[in-house]
Amino acid sequence: MGSISRTNDKNPGQKPLSGAVALVTGGSRGIGRAIAQRLAGLGASVAICGRDRAALAESAALLEKSGTQVFSQLADVTQASEVTNLVAKTEADLGAITILVNNAGIGLFGPAHEKTEADWDRVLDTNLKSVFLVSRAVVPSMIRRGAGDIINISSLAGKNAFANGGIYCASKWGVMGLSGCMAEDLREHGIRVSVICPGSVATEFSTRGPKDPSKALIAEDVAHAVESIVTQRPQSFLSEIHLRPLRKP
Ligand SMILES: NC(=O)c1ccc[n+]([C@@H]2O[C@H](COP(=O)([O-])OP(=O)(O)OC[C@H]3O[C@@H](n4cnc5c(N)ncnc54)[C@H](OP(=O)(O)O)[C@@H]3O)[C@@H](O)[C@H]2O)c1
Repeated sequence: MGSISRTNDKNPGQKPLSGAVALVTGGSRGIGRAIAQRLAGLGASVAICGRDRAALAESAALLEKSGTQVFSQLADVTQASEVTNLVAKTEADLGAITILVNNAGIGLFGPAHEKTEADWDRVLDTNLKSVFLVSRAVVPSMIRRGAGDIINISSLAGKNAFANGGIYCASKWGVMGLSGCMAEDLREHGIRVSVICPGSVATEFSTRGPKDPSKALIAEDVAHAVESIVTQRPQSFLSEIHLRPLRKP
């Protein structure tokens, strides 16, 4: 975990996450990019991954402007071998990962009975299996160090059921169950597993824009929730955040 306020109290000039190493999956755009930028601004070294080379390079270049150490790698988080490689290279480049943000995800909407098996596999592998794969690769070194933050980006679709949500909701309800169980497995090791459930956020993910964009959540709102989690006192733990726009967009 960022062990944050303890060092900060002693070194007032130091950024709150100095010394922390964050891996943000899907940090190449949208919510993941905003989270990576927020963590870098707080002083963490940051690693990001994604499959689109150009978007990843653009995100890495923006992060480097914050003056922090940045590592970026093309990686598909649905593939165990790519995940193992990503984590090993991140730790070789930046040091042991202290903050993992499982953010990479895709949307797919419409009645489940009209979807294909390939649709099911793509959404479940990206949104749920990836959380298992990346966490499994990062947890052993967090256990050895007796500290760490794992933040899973779920959705209010992980708490609610709605028409056309079938496969996406299944993936995000799965993330809720996995996160809750991981939190119980890991809390005695000093590792906090938190989950953030945003409502609709204005990114490329949403095909339908909000009626009133000025009222909609933006990626930085999710980044702010991540900041709240990693800057808690080490003894306390924000286990689940529901993030909603104040006024309905
Ligand atoms: N936007 C919303 O309304 C909303 C609301 C609630 C929750 N969420 C959740 O927030 C997270 C981020 O969403 P977003 O709105 O920022 O979406 P986005 O703009 O589409 O970004 C998704 C990110 O995930 C990456 N990604 C997707 N599949 C991947 C894979 N197999 N391997 C590696 N990276 C992969 C993408 O990079 P590449 O495509 O280059 O791989 C991209 O960086 C998702 O988990 C989503 O379910 C979004």
